Amino acid sequence: MKLIIINGPNLNLLGKREPEVYGSTTFEDYYKTLQAKYPDVDLTYFQSNIEGELIDKLHEVGFSYDGVILNAAAYTHTSIGIGDAVKGIETPVIEVHISNTHQREEFRHVSYISPVVKGVILGFGLQSYDLAIQSFL
Ligand code: DQA
Repeated sequence: MKLIIINGPNLNLLGKREPEVYGSTTFEDYYKTLQAKYPDVDLTYFQSNIEGELIDKLHEVGFSYDGVILNAAAYTHTSIGIGDAVKGIETPVIEVHISNTHQREEFRHVSYISPVVKGVILGFGLQSYDLAIQSFL
């Protein structure tokens, strides 16, 4: 099972960024926990703050991997390009968010990703990523 976690803008700051919303664990530390928990999953991690790089990565993995776990972060609410990329690839995508975006500002209630993904997991903190992995197993 070949899966990739793709994280969008500002998620490189997890652990430091708004810890009351996103927690105080870095993604690198949490990624190690996931790798240890799922030794049989071929898990890769990619993060970028640049929209086009996220699109390029989706194109690169989207015809050979078994699953994509995508937290497009702020681009979720703005990017037709990422939505089109998800629509254009064959690999199933699960959209994840750490926070429950529906409990937050109204601009976070819109997602250009949700209509084109297999499923959405949000509001479970970093555990949202774990639940997304489990959904592929
Ligand atoms: C987020 C929610 C987005 O609204 C926000 O822009 C993020 C993180 C989350 O995981 O909760 O950067 O995707």
